[in-house]
Amino acid sequence: MNLRPLTVAVVGATGVVGRTMIQILNEREFPVGELRLLASGRSAGRTVSIEGRTLEIAEADPDAFEGVDIALFSAGADISSELAPAAVARGATVIDNSSAWRMEPTIPLVVSQVNADDLEGHPGIIPNPSCSTMQAAPVLMALRDTVGLQRVVVDTYQSVSGTGADALAELEGQVRAHVAGEAPVANVYPHPIAFNALPEIDVFLPNGYTKEEWKVVTENRKILHLPDLRISCTAVRIPVFVSHSEAVHVETHEPITPERARELFAAIPGVIVQDDPATHDYPLATQAAGRDEIFVGRVRRDISIDDDRGLAFWVVSDNLRKGAATNAVELAEILRERDWISPAASRGATPYSNPTEATA
Ligand SMILES: NC(=O)c1ccc[n+]([C@@H]2O[C@H](COP(=O)([O-])OP(=O)(O)OC[C@H]3O[C@@H](n4cnc5c(N)ncnc54)[C@H](OP(=O)(O)O)[C@@H]3O)[C@@H](O)[C@H]2O)c1
Repeated sequence: MNLRPLTVAVVGATGVVGRTMIQILNEREFPVGELRLLASGRSAGRTVSIEGRTLEIAEADPDAFEGVDIALFSAGADISSELAPAAVARGATVIDNSSAWRMEPTIPLVVSQVNADDLEGHPGIIPNPSCSTMQAAPVLMALRDTVGLQRVVVDTYQSVSGTGADALAELEGQVRAHVAGEAPVANVYPHPIAFNALPEIDVFLPNGYTKEEWKVVTENRKILHLPDLRISCTAVRIPVFVSHSEAVHVETHEPITPERARELFAAIPGVIVQDDPATHDYPLATQAAGRDEIFVGRVRRDISIDDDRGLAFWVVSDNLRKGAATNAVELAEILRERDWISPAASRGATPYSNPTEATA
């Protein structure tokens, strides 16, 4: 196994996910030999200070990936579609936070504690699941493996950091405007997000779902290896800065009690059960922010389903950490441990060679 320090590129290094990525690489002491921070031409030449070192941001272009072992992309699907194949062609393994490749059949989609084995034979590009999918999949895995999943409904309450740096500024600006008695200015979202709830995340699809809702449907099916899973979603943006919350309703094949479900959830790596209604103890967005774990609470019988085959619960996780950067770095750690970082051809795998159009 090659355990030399790696050359790591972060594409979108000035964004909220990119900055979290740099932080998590440091926190987890990922063996970075050289760190290349890449963003748009607008940011080229700016410097950032990391752990006492000053690093300069460079423009992301194909040549920036010469000699890179791992490239962590979070600059949107258009940039990923354009530059990730160029990075792979130069020998890098790409872990990509956009939706550009998630549903390509020959490309694995992996949540670290659910389906890490799917990484074997990867073609050089590895998408990171969407943040709303990420926090539900480990919990659904535990139910799939014990009592089987018959039907799942996920309703999300998603923070504005999921949209990026501009949305954080927009929420803050609208709160300040409200306090000052001024009219809110909405540029990022179609309506004011402050003091509101917007049932529109990403674009609307012909079937009436939004693309965010459809990601929860299709990505969970792929990650859980349940292509026919009956699953639906409503995704809502709320005026919270960080952490997504989800109300999940599950119909299982076999009966299960809330007590047993809590035991199962608590046994999942990276999941914490926080469930004591008597002391008002349940997962909160503000408490999950800055944490890597997925928090589950309010576990109870879903009384609309007979024979103890229904569960309802509340799942909260930091969308910038486990929902994006932490899972990406965990995938990099797994690739390194299993010696799956080298170019596909040298591992006997088929290299990625057919870029698709950007879709989001
Ligand atoms: N936010 C989340 O919770 C979350 C979760 C999962 C996945 N994601 C995905 O992660 C990606 C980034 O999200 P974000 O929230 O971090 O957005 P963000 O805060 O708006 O940051 C966007 C980043 O992309 C860079 N960028 C823009 N145009 C570029 C170009 N032409 N070439 C190179 N870099 C360019 C920006 O650099 P400049 O500063 O130079 O413009 C910035 O670093 C998106 O694909 C998003 O869907 C986000």
